[in-house]
Amino acid sequence: MSKKVLITGAAGFIGFHTATKLLEQGYELIGIDNLNDYYDTELKKARIGNISKLNKLISKNWRFIKCDLLEKEKLDNIFKSFQPEYVINLAAQAGVRYSKENPSAYINSNIVGFMNLLECCRDLKIKHLLYASSSSVYGGNKNLPFCEKNEVSHPVSLYAATKRSNELMAHTYSHLYNLPTTGLRFFTVYGPWGRPDMGYFIFTSKIIKDETIKIFNNGQMMRDFTYVDDVVNALTNILEKTPCASDDFDFYRPNPSKSWAPYRLFNVGNSNPTKLLDFISIIENCLGKKANKEFLPMQLGDVESTSANINELNKWAGFEPKTSLKEGLEKFIKWYIDFYKPDQLIKKS
Ligand SMILES: NC(=O)c1ccc[n+]([C@@H]2O[C@H](COP(=O)([O-])OP(=O)(O)OC[C@H]3O[C@@H](n4cnc5c(N)ncnc54)[C@H](O)[C@@H]3O)[C@@H](O)[C@H]2O)c1
Repeated sequence: MSKKVLITGAAGFIGFHTATKLLEQGYELIGIDNLNDYYDTELKKARIGNISKLNKLISKNWRFIKCDLLEKEKLDNIFKSFQPEYVINLAAQAGVRYSKENPSAYINSNIVGFMNLLECCRDLKIKHLLYASSSSVYGGNKNLPFCEKNEVSHPVSLYAATKRSNELMAHTYSHLYNLPTTGLRFFTVYGPWGRPDMGYFIFTSKIIKDETIKIFNNGQMMRDFTYVDDVVNALTNILEKTPCASDDFDFYRPNPSKSWAPYRLFNVGNSNPTKLLDFISIIENCLGKKANKEFLPMQLGDVESTSANINELNKWAGFEPKTSLKEGLEKFIKWYIDFYKPDQLIKKS
């Protein structure tokens, strides 16, 4: 009998890749997503369509249900009829900058939606809830690389505040109901089937169209860009590695990433921070085209640099990112060209 996993945000970038990998590994999956129009819904539907095209033996273990985390009754019914053993929450209102435009989308999906999911997990006594947090919880921290034991009480965007809230809410459920939870702080994930609102996607699309790209903080930004397959490997490797209470938890000098309850938090990054301008140069080289650049000041809500210390996840699950930026961006651009077939590049070749 296959083990049962419920994955939310399955039509999203990381959800789609995770679902594909878990199906290949023989799990039985239900994917849910509300297919909202924060970005191109055709891309979300194409991701779901691509999962259904997998070999028949694999795709028989897959079902997609359009459902919003806010539809509590529907969610309850899905949980009761499917009886998942494991739950992965990748549904969220993502994006730092959009949280200034539409704050309520973040409160609805990331706070109320996450609480609904916690309640379903509590009722069904599921074995392990894995959920996406973000490097943005480190907010105004300046001591790089970011470490899970760092203080994270100074978010600089509402998005970050909702992600930190998820970690705190998960801890409460781990403590009150003995629900094993693991939060994963992802660091700028990129790759094929990626997100059209993210820098690497916008840069690629604009460079191809000869449009000007906006570079904030005059290019003085650094990001720990992490390839999606490395993130998915981390997720799938720890799915069945249920956290237990830390016997050595020190109540007088508490480490925020551990607990007396079955609760863990891990950074999932590449541990190789790269300057934004170097990152753009790799995209230019892959495309064989130079970008027209407009340098602009720092935007409120952005952080200047991110860099992940990944020692904890390495100790816990042997995590080691394997994909170089050059290799990862080549794969992204190959996918982009196959998927969008941009006239400008086709005419040139
Ligand atoms: N991609 C990154 O660089 C990155 C970095 C840090 C954290 N994260 C987090 O990882 C998770 C996955 O991110 P992603 O890049 O795949 O984003 P994504 O936007 O591609 O995927 C999220 C999916 O969730 C769905 N969704 C949103 N609200 C929902 C709701 N209320 N009910 C049901 N479905 C809903 C969306 O339709 C979307 O398909 C998110 O929690 C995100 O905040 C991503």
